[in-house]
Amino acid sequence: MSARYAIILAAGKGTRMKSKLYKVLHPVCGQPMVEHILQRVTETNPSEVVAIVGHGADKVKEQLGERCQYALQEVQLGTGHAVLQAAEFLEGKTGTTLVISGDTPLLTSETLNNLFDYHLGKNASATILTAQAQDPTGYGRIIRDRVGIVDKIVEQKDATPEEARVTEINTGTYCFDNALLFDALANLKTDNAQGEYYLTDIIEILKSQGHSVAAYQTADFNESLGVNDRVALAQANQLMRERIQLKHMLNGVTLVDPATTYIDAAVEIGSDTVIEGNVSIKGATTIGEDCFITNGSQIVDSVIADRVVVKASVIEESRIHSNVDIGPYAHLRPNAEICTGAHIGNYVEIKNAKIGENTKVGHLTYIGDATLGRDINVGCGVVFVNYDGKSKYQTIIGDHSFIGSNANLVAPLTIAANTLIAAGSTITKDIPEFAMGIARAKQTNKEEFAKKLPYFQ
Ligand code: UD1
Ligand code: CA
Repeated sequence: MSARYAIILAAGKGTRMKSKLYKVLHPVCGQPMVEHILQRVTETNPSEVVAIVGHGADKVKEQLGERCQYALQEVQLGTGHAVLQAAEFLEGKTGTTLVISGDTPLLTSETLNNLFDYHLGKNASATILTAQAQDPTGYGRIIRDRVGIVDKIVEQKDATPEEARVTEINTGTYCFDNALLFDALANLKTDNAQGEYYLTDIIEILKSQGHSVAAYQTADFNESLGVNDRVALAQANQLMRERIQLKHMLNGVTLVDPATTYIDAAVEIGSDTVIEGNVSIKGATTIGEDCFITNGSQIVDSVIADRVVVKASVIEESRIHSNVDIGPYAHLRPNAEICTGAHIGNYVEIKNAKIGENTKVGHLTYIGDATLGRDINVGCGVVFVNYDGKSKYQTIIGDHSFIGSNANLVAPLTIAANTLIAAGSTITKDIPEFAMGIARAKQTNKEEFAKKLPYFQ
């Protein structure tokens, strides 16, 4: 196989997005568009990938990290000028170069591999990835001669009315003979409606030099959707969402109402898990097998094992082991870890805390900055008082303790195993094993006193 290289165009500002965020960083199903592109490009196994960066260069680099090389395009003079910036890495090398835009997030690596194969099979100097559009507005048009051979690409703004009627569009993705590409780039001019160095003009240049040019048409226009504004961004999200859902359903996940289910691209879900409608599963989340996620749940960047039930709850950056049930209306905030068999009931908030195996936290409780052992029962309305307005403090509770309802546990605290905390206590001191901590006012009954109230008269 001849060497493969790839150039990702990601230097544009994205004026039509009307956004403070640079275009290629706008997320589609939880990942910046340029991240999707780099992943798909990487799946085609190129030996070098160069991202052209300019607007928001630091942010794009932060996203893509060391997975590719970077060439800076200081001023954005057009897509041809952008590709030229990769010369410092690729000029003169032998092989095939894929050029792809950072704003076409739906292209699949299967299509890109097909494009490479077609290009090499045709022995062409350049192969354009094209698609048939129902509405070609905004895209470059593929102009073919009478026998169907590609003549050139004409941008919408430069097209004659006749050319504008062509529905075969340029997806902005190409394979080039690398050496010929960089030779030809030197000949680009800016004599067009936008005064830019168009990469698309390279087709005519290569042809005028006597090289053959091919076009490979994808069957699915949707794959080549280019995101230039928020309308296309919403379409891209919708299309990607359907693709993600299809993958999970074919893997054995039940989606009760796909129309109201939002699953990000990086999410993994085990088979026989059932997800009801109005559920969002975002970021780097993994869900195991045989789980049940009900209406109104939102799960972000979390790892959930097998046979977990989540009822209408919010879970962020947390880890849930198997056979746990959560909710309804629980909120697991970052760094909550819920061990096997534990029960987290309604209106419970947990943050930066580990809840041991089979421990039950049934109702209306806040647990922050704590480590709870196994088989503990936490009553209703217990508050872990972890914050004094300045610092946070830890609470540790040993196995098989019983925390009575409406207790306040003022951290820092170490409560041994097998302890009892009396309901309504405000605990400020450590408790040794098998002791009861009680800290509440003694009750006195005043005989006949109630009768003084008008209510009883
Ligand atoms: C481009 C193509 C058009 C094609 C469409 C497909 C050209 C001249 N036109 O148009 O034929 O149908 O894509 O989606 O190539 N960029 C840079 N530096 C620049 C200019 C652009 O890095 O100086 C990057 C942008 O960040 C973007 C990509 O190149 O990721 C494409 O640029 P964009 O302005 O979106 O081109 P289109 O007008 O969509
Ligand atoms: Ca575009």
